[in-house]
Amino acid sequence: MHASSLNFHDYLVVTGALPTDDGRIPLSDAGGTVEAVGEGVAEFAVGDRVVSTFFPPWLEGEPKQSNFTAVPGDGMDGYAREQVVRPAAWFTHAPAGYSHAEAATLTTAGLTAWRALTVDNSIKAGDTILTLGTGGVSLFALQFARSMGANVIATSSSDEKLERLRELGARYTINYKADPDWGSTVNELTGGRGVDQVIEVGGPGTVGQSIEAVRVGGLISLIGVLTGTGGEVPTAKLMTKQARLQGLLVGSRQHQKAMVRAIDATGIRPVIDRHFQLEAIADAFRHEEAGNHFGKICLEF
Ligand SMILES: NC(=O)c1ccc[n+]([C@@H]2O[C@H](COP(=O)([O-])OP(=O)(O)OC[C@H]3O[C@@H](n4cnc5c(N)ncnc54)[C@H](OP(=O)(O)O)[C@@H]3O)[C@@H](O)[C@H]2O)c1
Repeated sequence: MHASSLNFHDYLVVTGALPTDDGRIPLSDAGGTVEAVGEGVAEFAVGDRVVSTFFPPWLEGEPKQSNFTAVPGDGMDGYAREQVVRPAAWFTHAPAGYSHAEAATLTTAGLTAWRALTVDNSIKAGDTILTLGTGGVSLFALQFARSMGANVIATSSSDEKLERLRELGARYTINYKADPDWGSTVNELTGGRGVDQVIEVGGPGTVGQSIEAVRVGGLISLIGVLTGTGGEVPTAKLMTKQARLQGLLVGSRQHQKAMVRAIDATGIRPVIDRHFQLEAIADAFRHEEAGNHFGKICLEF
């Protein structure tokens, strides 16, 4: 293994908010190089660059897992280490030309955004997608959506970050701290129509505004827990919007292979905020905790 990247989920593991066995090796994401293959392995050769998968047993088809018992860095040991011996099916190829750190941003954040847009939704040119904040999932969603011809409205708590969102292609940006009624603002910006899909990473503190922002018959992809794990949902408003509120957990190996093909075709590069060496993993998590990052925080080793 040569790189990993931090996700909010990894932060919950290392701080004990998601309890794991003592001595658990953290981190779900990994980019590395194949050093040897077992008998009968045809998909990979020595020297290939690979990316780990989030749910190793979920190769394809419908999701079956509703917990993290099979997830490296949570229910089993993860990738904060230099070498692993694991089944070939626990990895896919990395996109061509990607550094290990870039590849290691895809396992969790990249695939979650990809699945929300292309598996749970059928995004098309002209759609409007709303992203919340400037974490890994949201920036991938912005980049994938733009690459497929969709418009993006993006929020952040920082005006400086809003500027960077516009540079990445967001048509409109909203400071959600300065404008707590941002759902109505999204409605105004779309001429009263609302957005086709919300990449909902906030959870209970934001879902009310997301329901306000979504169009009649649209989709809210419930991804995150940044504001907590439970709370009130304005169900009558959701009903009258006739919108879908769909939870999702990352994606399958098949979804990851499709995402890698899309990246090879579009040339999208992940937004990396900062690189740390593996030895400085605690500093990397403190940097994530501070919340000043824009995009992914990577570890290299
Ligand atoms: N369901 C899944 O499969 C899945 C997969 C990946 C991640 N997630 C979840 O999705 C969430 C985001 O993950 P991530 O790895 O992208 O996190 P991250 O990189 O740590 O993102 C943190 C960013 O979220 C923004 N944020 C914080 N509070 C916010 C709020 N109230 N409203 C809007 N934005 C807010 C902030 O952006 P600004 O600084 O710009 O304000 C912050 O920098 C987490 O809850 C994570 O657990 C779920």
